[in-house]
Amino acid sequence: MNGTKDVAVIVGSLRKESFNRKLANALPAVSPASLKLAIVEIGELALYNQDSDAPGKVPPAWQAFRARIKAADAMLFVTPEYNRSVPGVLKNAIDVGSRPYGQSAWEGKPGAVVSLSPGAIGGFGANHHLRQMMVFLNVPMMAQPEAYIGGAATLFDEQGNLATASAREFAGKFMQAFADWIERVGKK
Ligand SMILES: Cc1cc2nc3c(=O)[nH]c(=O)nc-3n(C[C@H](O)[C@H](O)[C@H](O)COP(=O)(O)O)c2cc1C
Repeated sequence: MNGTKDVAVIVGSLRKESFNRKLANALPAVSPASLKLAIVEIGELALYNQDSDAPGKVPPAWQAFRARIKAADAMLFVTPEYNRSVPGVLKNAIDVGSRPYGQSAWEGKPGAVVSLSPGAIGGFGANHHLRQMMVFLNVPMMAQPEAYIGGAATLFDEQGNLATASAREFAGKFMQAFADWIERVGKK
């Protein structure tokens, strides 16, 4: 154990009542004390345009996002599925973080993904499209346990906590495995 790990949590939904944001907010309660989870907002990132990646033109929000990801020890993606892939807002954040060429903010940091949907297959398509992108970006993504969570509408109580003991147990095991993964593959 090498002390506290700063985990940038990236939520793939901008919706106010987002189930995925609720889950991101509920995860610290079931995570080991070694993980400090902090949501990094992506809604204000301008759509990626390579013309803006020129000296003096880079949007301040892109600069701040890249610096925040570079400072993190690991990333946790919590995302819905849109049309069997990741929402465009999340793809945009990944593209912004990946550039300029050769200076990707994601490079080498451990990652994990949870997909959450009201539907039955738990965002499997989004989960694996995200894995495909992050593998290309040289991000070691935790392989197991996988987290494709369906039935989002019944997952939380009125306070936004995970409603059942089995959900809390699953989430806790996932986060402990992620802490172990960060220790194994993250920068020492
Ligand atoms: C454009 C769009 C596409 C969607 N496509 C899918 C899909 O492919 N699979 C799925 O399970 N749900 C799909 N949904 C439903 C979302 O899972 C649902 O809106 C969910 O609540 C979004 O997550 P959030 O609550 O965190 O915002 C889609 C929703 C939208 C708006």
